[in-house]
Amino acid sequence: MGIEKTQEVIDLLEKNGQEHIIKFMQTLNDEERERLEDQILTIDFHQILELYDNTKKKFEIKESKIEAIQYFDKEKISSSKKSQLDSLGEKIITSQKYAVVTMAGGQGTRLEHTGPKGTFKLDVYGKGKYLFEILIDNLKEANKKYGVIIPWYIMTSKENYAETKNFLEKHSFFGYDKNHVILFQQGELPLIDKNGKLLIGKNKLIKLASDGNGGTFTSLRTSGALADMKERGIEWVFIGGVDNVLLKMADTTLLGLAIEQNVQIASKSIVKANPQEKVGVFCKMNGHPKVIEYTELPEKMAEEIDSNGELKYGESHIMCNLFTIEAIEKISKETLIYHQALKKNSYLDEYGKEINPQDANSYKFEAFIFDAFPLFDDIAILRGKREFDFAPVKNKEGVDSPRTAKELYEKFWN
Ligand code: UD1
Repeated sequence: MGIEKTQEVIDLLEKNGQEHIIKFMQTLNDEERERLEDQILTIDFHQILELYDNTKKKFEIKESKIEAIQYFDKEKISSSKKSQLDSLGEKIITSQKYAVVTMAGGQGTRLEHTGPKGTFKLDVYGKGKYLFEILIDNLKEANKKYGVIIPWYIMTSKENYAETKNFLEKHSFFGYDKNHVILFQQGELPLIDKNGKLLIGKNKLIKLASDGNGGTFTSLRTSGALADMKERGIEWVFIGGVDNVLLKMADTTLLGLAIEQNVQIASKSIVKANPQEKVGVFCKMNGHPKVIEYTELPEKMAEEIDSNGELKYGESHIMCNLFTIEAIEKISKETLIYHQALKKNSYLDEYGKEINPQDANSYKFEAFIFDAFPLFDDIAILRGKREFDFAPVKNKEGVDSPRTAKELYEKFWN
């Protein structure tokens, strides 16, 4: 059996141009080899090849028809219309048909925080508050207002699952009813170098990394979280990030708007501060809603002005998204496109020697949450306000840093 398995693995590696791993396997003891073989048998080489081929294609949006997106401005909605929307939204929340998902699988590399990003403590009001604590405060406030306990699903990476769980347990979930807190893990994909070779990590296994926040939908399904939502009778699901300290996770106007517009997805936007701001922007591409990420937005488009003198592609995606449960189910069965990022990653060479490259040497693949939007005909967008809705903690210093987030947070709550 052992020999047969080894042969099967060798054939697979040869067939897929991964001979360096065959060589590396000779440096391993039986137990280590066995572990690596088992891992290799779980890898989808067809997908790896496809991902690698895509790294050679340039992101092309030229042939598509791109238009500005329609939105509703929360500030400009009449008060009677707003109360009508709010009551539609409230009905869903008070009848316990509303759930919240927090995507907390990011690593917080730019912030230089070691540990899950939600465990970062923001220096507010002298005492400080953890990002998770700030999110919980927001949910507790909604629970109090609507007399319910909103089930809270937290997606972690495989890497930060245990640490996140221990942290929340240590802090007694900051007073949230733990029966309504469900942690689940996101998926991973191998890293590959510029020649399509899989990297080997220090643990003598193929090096894997989180597959991006677009993996949320599939992970919700495969982890059983989606089934849990259905059992609880959930109809609408909010999915948001972990790092925006002004994120409103139970905005009844947004929910009401989605219901009134009879759409399956909705999103809160804010006006982009300047053409260079590092946010994704909404548009319509070939008639479908879409977000173009800041890393992929052509400069010319970023600077285009409309007839009102506003940025034509100025509705920013702030990770404040709503989905019907049916939409989540549908997306979870689709394969979203993967975006690649060339990054610097250490690895073991075929002799088992650790290499620390000077420059970016390998691709990390990530699906993005908003690539699910084009699967739908329409989206309801509610334009919010930066000072009410967006204070992200992304960078150690400068824009979107703990300093700017603290300022905005304290200003909002004063
Ligand atoms: C993200 C959005 C961008 C938006 C900006 C607003 C994406 C791809 N981009 O950019 O359009 O304008 O936020 O702040 O979403 N995460 C996971 N698992 C992963 C990767 C990320 O759970 O594998 C989570 C993070 O914990 C975080 C969120 O997704 O809560 C955003 O991820 P991040 O990589 O920080 O995206 P940004 O570049 O900030």
